[in-house]
Amino acid sequence: MTATKAWSPDSWRNMPIVQVPTYPDEAKLLDVESQLKRFPPLVFAGEARSLKADLARVARGEAFLLQGGDCAESFAEFHPDNIRDTFKVLLQMAVVLTYAAARPVVKVGRMAGQFAKPRSSDVEKQGDTELPSYRGDIVNGIDFEAGRRVPDPERMIRAYNQSAATLNLLRAFAQGGFADLHKVNRWTQDFVAGSPQGDRYRDIADRITEALDFMAACGLTSETAPQLRETDFYTSHEALLLRYEEAFTREDSLTGDWYDTSAHLLWIGDRTRQPDGAHVEFMRGINNPIAFKCGPSLDPDELIRLIDILNPGDEAGRITLIARMGADDVETRLAPLVRKVKSEGRTVVWSCDPMHGNVIKSSSGYKTRPFDRILREVTGFFAVHRAEGTNAGGVHFEMTGQNVTECIGGAQAITDEDLGDRYHTHCDPRLNASQALELAFLIADQLKEDLRTLPNVVAAE
Ligand code: PEP
Ligand code: CO
Repeated sequence: MTATKAWSPDSWRNMPIVQVPTYPDEAKLLDVESQLKRFPPLVFAGEARSLKADLARVARGEAFLLQGGDCAESFAEFHPDNIRDTFKVLLQMAVVLTYAAARPVVKVGRMAGQFAKPRSSDVEKQGDTELPSYRGDIVNGIDFEAGRRVPDPERMIRAYNQSAATLNLLRAFAQGGFADLHKVNRWTQDFVAGSPQGDRYRDIADRITEALDFMAACGLTSETAPQLRETDFYTSHEALLLRYEEAFTREDSLTGDWYDTSAHLLWIGDRTRQPDGAHVEFMRGINNPIAFKCGPSLDPDELIRLIDILNPGDEAGRITLIARMGADDVETRLAPLVRKVKSEGRTVVWSCDPMHGNVIKSSSGYKTRPFDRILREVTGFFAVHRAEGTNAGGVHFEMTGQNVTECIGGAQAITDEDLGDRYHTHCDPRLNASQALELAFLIADQLKEDLRTLPNVVAAE
């Protein structure tokens, strides 16, 4: 069996692989790979261990996971304001969820490394012209021009540099006072005041303000309690481009274990989770917390097989299962998987990605996701866990802090006709800032319901 065979950072190279770019210039590729291997790690193994411990808490029902960010980061959208605004919305969402769940929220960005994209076809056709598909800025260019679509290894260096700068700013924001709970709450109050559906959200927002006022009266302020002015923020991306991931896989000097130091958490996409494939092979040997996507084609036995390969010791916090079934299928497809994992006694975090099963083509021709379907999948996810007596551990979103028009619906009632106004994504349509925060308020209702009905959900001390 795979799991007992020797592993090394490059053992994936002997396994069947899908979704790989073909680099025409082999010498340049090798040169870039050897440069990447000498670059400083982006994260430290100890941080990945902290995230694993936090996720173990999520698995036990003592915390909730919020993972979100771009579908694909891009070189063109690289700007401090974009990083700040996405981080800001994630913080606002986290505060609302923390209050509703009465549990800490583990915050993980799809940021600082989320560049490589799996594609449904190797080629894209426009008219009579056929070119290699765009695979994310870390591989090739998005413009439909022959020269730009050739995979260029130098792009890995640029993606690394952009990730390092992004992570540097995120660390400064998380620890330097930007994440102060009072400030985050003021932004949320402003959002509620300006939202057409503000009345629906005001109750929770006001109660958070009251809780902060109460704490201040007790002497707990940003000056006296570092927990109120600082936060932990982790990074994640899909471990798709294995040459890049291998280059950042380093042996931890403290434990002697291997860690992929390109991010705290790495996940396997729905298209690359073959149990005998290269991506699963690579991921089984790194000690980071890892996740994989569970789409409609995954059957319960295969799920257990994957868990056994990736987490043979059943370590808590190691595996997060990100379900992405689609609003119509979530109850029927997810329940058998949840039941199987429970009956086999495996320790996992169940998270809900309500984005990737809900893509439609709008009548105006844009790829979009209706807000009500996204919400319906999250609601279905919670319903399944309530019925099975398991823990709805977290949510996974594609979102941005910018005021884009990519998903239809929400309180701003973005319509088909509006999509063309600010449709900027390099891949899938993202929730904009107000849609993302609205969703947090609506999920808060589910979490409060869980708190009332589930005896096994433990409130934070
Ligand atoms: C993604 O998360 O951007 C993605 C491609 O998801 P999936 O593998 O679930 O399709
Ligand atoms: Co996506």
